[in-house]
Amino acid sequence: MNLAAMSPSDILALGARAGAMLDELARISAEPSRLVRLYLTPEHRRAADLVAGWMRQAGMEVSEDALGTVRGRFSAGASPDDAKAPRLLVGSHIDTVVDAGRYDGPLGVVAGILAVDHFSAGGPALPFGIDVLAFGDEEGSRFPSTLATSAACVGAFDPATLGFADRNGVTFAEALKAYGKNAQDIAAAAYRRDEVAGFVEVHIEQGPVLEQENEPLGVVTGIVGQSRLRVVVTGEAGHAGTVPMELRRDALAGAAELILAVERIARELAADRVVATVGRIEAEPGAVNIIPARVAFTVDVRAMSDEVRRSAVEQIESEGWRVVEARGLQVAFEPFHEAVTAECDLTLQNTLAAAIADLGHRAPRLPSGAGHDAQMMAKLCRSAMLFVRCRGGVSHNPAEYASPADIGLAIAALIRFIERFAPGQA
Ligand code: GLV
Ligand code: MN
Ligand code: MN
Repeated sequence: MNLAAMSPSDILALGARAGAMLDELARISAEPSRLVRLYLTPEHRRAADLVAGWMRQAGMEVSEDALGTVRGRFSAGASPDDAKAPRLLVGSHIDTVVDAGRYDGPLGVVAGILAVDHFSAGGPALPFGIDVLAFGDEEGSRFPSTLATSAACVGAFDPATLGFADRNGVTFAEALKAYGKNAQDIAAAAYRRDEVAGFVEVHIEQGPVLEQENEPLGVVTGIVGQSRLRVVVTGEAGHAGTVPMELRRDALAGAAELILAVERIARELAADRVVATVGRIEAEPGAVNIIPARVAFTVDVRAMSDEVRRSAVEQIESEGWRVVEARGLQVAFEPFHEAVTAECDLTLQNTLAAAIADLGHRAPRLPSGAGHDAQMMAKLCRSAMLFVRCRGGVSHNPAEYASPADIGLAIAALIRFIERFAPGQA
């Protein structure tokens, strides 16, 4: 059945099928009362196995690379040459944030599987193959690494990542070994440029624009750059009852002043769409009656302009130096992640917009303030993203929701995109 033969009820049925798969994945969690599925954990293993089974049912050959990315390979072209043509890559991630919703990541994996299922179950033959990729480390929720799995696929994995430790002191390298992988194989996970024709990721918008536009689908123009750093403020522990206020070197009070400065700096740069977040903080020794000696917190800074983002980070650092100087403290800034802004390929954007128009919808274009595997894949090949409206723009929250109707349209648009896609010229 080609898309022209797909009725609104077929599209709705696709959405319902995707919804059931997303529900099944969402049941795989480390905690019974909330969704937590971190990279290289038993839950990751179970989710990867479930996804692999779906890929096989959809006619794909399944393998797993050295960092655990599940790869479903669909090669049913009309001629033997089709199998040799550069492949279209489609995918997203199956790891989650802590207390996650069920759509951020898994939607793009499920959409890829159901799109392939459409072609393997009697859709038109394609002059190229498709790999569906289920990445495992997009959120950076377990290790301070982010996009490590897609980095391996593009040959940009940083070996320093292997030394990163999680909250329990388990290193990335140890977790990888326990997952049954061999770090020696990471280089072999990289695609060659000449075997890839492009990457496309379906993802919920995670913002309110499509809802405001009253449209189910949108085309992403570019993905923000990000800087993540750990800030460590050091003072001196002391007795909470005996040290007079003017003699204290309170690391937590200094950190609090700096955290408010982070917020102020981002607000001052609001016209440049800079956002900055302190999402995690730890104070030591962490007792009610001890002046805090050491505070570590994270800062996440994002902007569409790399120059503006770097300047915001510089301002945060110089404000940090001022605060610690005034308070007799010390500060260290430890950057642990930087992703530059990635433009989405214009030709692929237009192909996505045409696919959405084929379904009778307008395709608003919008930037992504969230990070995505698509920005890493852009280092390898032309990369594009299709956004799906989500209720209230809510994400990284269990209330995250996209309707089966919108999801069905997104998969139908992906199918149409694949039909329109011609490697090298789409
Ligand atoms: C990933 O969701 C990120 O943008 O932090
Ligand atoms: Mn995501
Ligand atoms: Mn996310």
